[in-house]
Parts: sequence; structure tokens; C-alpha cells
Amino acid sequence: MQMRVLGASGIEASVVGIGTWVMGGWMWGGADEGESIAAVHAAIDAGINLIDTAPIYGFGHSEVVVGKAIADRRDKVVLATKCGMVINSVGGRAVARSTAAGPSEFGHLEIKIWNDPESIRQEVELSLKRLGTDYIDLYQTHWQEEETPIAETMGVLMKLKEEGKIRAIGVCNATVGEMDAYRAAGQLDSDQEQYSMIHRKLEGGSFQGEDGLPDQLGYCRDNNMAVLAYSPLVLGLLTGKVGPERVFGESDLRSTQKRFSRANREKIGELLSRFEPVAQKHGCTMAQLVIAWTVHQSGLTHALVGARNPEQAKENAAAGRVVLDAGDLELMNGLVRSDATVLDMS
Ligand SMILES: NC(=O)c1ccc[n+]([C@@H]2O[C@H](COP(=O)([O-])OP(=O)(O)OC[C@H]3O[C@@H](n4cnc5c(N)ncnc54)[C@H](OP(=O)(O)O)[C@@H]3O)[C@@H](O)[C@H]2O)c1
Repeated sequence: MQMRVLGASGIEASVVGIGTWVMGGWMWGGADEGESIAAVHAAIDAGINLIDTAPIYGFGHSEVVVGKAIADRRDKVVLATKCGMVINSVGGRAVARSTAAGPSEFGHLEIKIWNDPESIRQEVELSLKRLGTDYIDLYQTHWQEEETPIAETMGVLMKLKEEGKIRAIGVCNATVGEMDAYRAAGQLDSDQEQYSMIHRKLEGGSFQGEDGLPDQLGYCRDNNMAVLAYSPLVLGLLTGKVGPERVFGESDLRSTQKRFSRANREKIGELLSRFEPVAQKHGCTMAQLVIAWTVHQSGLTHALVGARNPEQAKENAAAGRVVLDAGDLELMNGLVRSDATVLDMS
């Protein structure tokens, strides 16, 4: 497994990390706790040390499960969690409310993005408790909002670092301008963003018609920040195992996503079938090839890959050993550009 440092923190993290959103169950049609714990153990046994979670994943459940899984191996793990997605708070920007289709089993909920310093202080204590640890390696603001000045948010994060509760600070879902503001107020070591071979906003340029965006990968590279890709397999779509016939349950977010339309799945299937010679050359599976492609992109340092069972975790971890050459990358990029641009992603 290749390791890379998280920005200027000195913390070495595996290029393939395990994402634990699915382990919260909510939005993913449920999750089996035993399988989740076994997945974390399989990942660590296969050389992964980077584990990403968040309080909002199953409303604390993912953190609790991760805490159980790492209880006897905390020293082997780089633990990343988040703050700033809160429930029923007095301030912040509302992004979701419970409805019949939402988290109704949890009662009435309003989910808000709120990076308020006092709220973050409360959140960190709750995360530490759920995770069963006294420090978090990488603490990230989950989403950004306009109400709280970023200098105040960064102020409390820097204090938490001084107090030893967190070791490094990151952001998720941030613009270059927002990262400038964080960096003006302290040391920002990472940026976590959606990135996959069919979601390439971070590169800037004109992929999928998104013109005029800044090169966020270049920005992070120039400022010595790690970039953690989330959803690198597009929630399983790029594993080669989601055929047109697969049906997702109503409480699985994929059941309503256009990305998972039958037409798109057929196109993705066609694209992946053209990657077969590269996968065969490296003796790897399609999921491993796609993860390997991700961590070979310049400026993209780590891929957070979700796994709901030990088999997936083991398979994904092994992608950290696949070394692609310039010819492989050129071939794959050419195919992606010719096929993926016609996907309906709205
Ligand atoms: N910061 C943010 O806003 C944000 C947003 C999203 C995600 N994230 C982080 O990024 C992590 C990864 O993203 P993600 O979970 O959204 O998507 P992903 O990693 O692209 O896909 C994960 C899903 O794909 C399927 N899968 C994974 N490996 C597989 C394999 N080897 N074979 C077959 N199927 C496989 C599993 O679902 P099934 O078995 O159900 O098909 C799994 O839950 C999350 O867990 C979370 O930690 C962060």
C-alpha cells in the first residue's frame, strides 16, 4: 500500500482509505453492523490506515460502528471525521428536513450546515465519545455556509489542535476562495471533494460543460494540501457490478439518482468493458483499476472508497498496489472523454 502525507501535518495515510457513510445505514437501505466492523478490520489487515466517517452518517451510527471496530487497534488508524452538519440547531443553513421519504424513524429532524465555533466544540466532544478515542487525526468541516465567518471556524479548529483533540484540519465541499480564507487563519492540510473519472470539476477546464472553474487540484498541490476524493466509484456505479437489472430499495439514495438510470448504466458498462485490456494487463478487477486511476491523477492524493462488507474492503484496498503507466492513463482518459460526456448526470 502506498502512503502519502496529509498536507503539512506529517501524518502518513494510505492512498486508499475506507469510507464509512454506508455503515450509517441511512440513505443506503440499511447496513449490517457485523459486516461493517468486519469491513474495517479487513481494510486495516490489507494495509489501509485512513478511515473516514462523519456524525451525520446514520446520525452518529457510523462513528459508533467505527469506534467499535478500532477499539483494539486505534494506533494503526488515521481517523478522519467531520463537523458542521448538525440537527435541529438554532443557527445555520437548512439543507434537509425529515419527510415520509426522509429519516422519519428518528423523529422530526432538520439538518443544517453550521460551522459555529461553540457548536463545533460540542460536536467534537460527541464524536470523540462515539469513536471511543481522545483524539481525531483529521477533523474536517463537512460543508460550507455563509453565516459563520471562516476565520472564527478556523479559530476554534486551531484551538482544538493546540489542545490535542485533533491533529490536522481539513475542509470538504469548499471553493478555492473558502480555502483561501481558512488558510489565512491557520494551517489547512486537506480538501475532500467529489471526484471520479466522470466527476472532474476539481480539474477545472471544460469537462461535462462546466466551464471557467478553477483548477482545484492545482491549487491544493501548490499549497501543499492533500486532496481526498469522495465517491470515487460513484456509489458503486464504476465497479462493473451494477448492471442495468440491479434494483435499489426505496431507502437507498441510488434508487432516485439519474446517474443510475438504465441508459447511463448501459453506457458505463460499455465504457468499463473497453478498460478490460488494461485490467487484464494489471491482473486487477474493474473496481481496483478505477480506484488506481483516481490516485494516479496529479494533485489527487487519496481515494476514500466506501465498503459495506469485508470482501469489498479487501478488494478496494488492493487497488493501492496497482501501478498504471502513462500509456494506461492516456488510453483510459481517451475512452472516458469520448463516452462519459454523453451521460445524463443531472
Ligand atoms: N465529504 C462529503 O460530503 C462526502 C460525500 C460522500 C461521501 N463521502 C466519503 O467518501 C466515502 C466514499 O464515497 P461513497 O461511499 O459515497 O461512494 P463510493 O466509494 O464511490 O461507493 C461505495 C459503494 O460502492 C459499493 N462498492 C464499493 N466497493 C465495491 C466493490 N469492490 N465491489 C462492489 N461494490 C462495491 C458499495 O455499495 P453496495 O454494496 O451497496 O452496492 C459501497 O457502499 C464515503 O463513505 C464517505 O466517507 C464524503
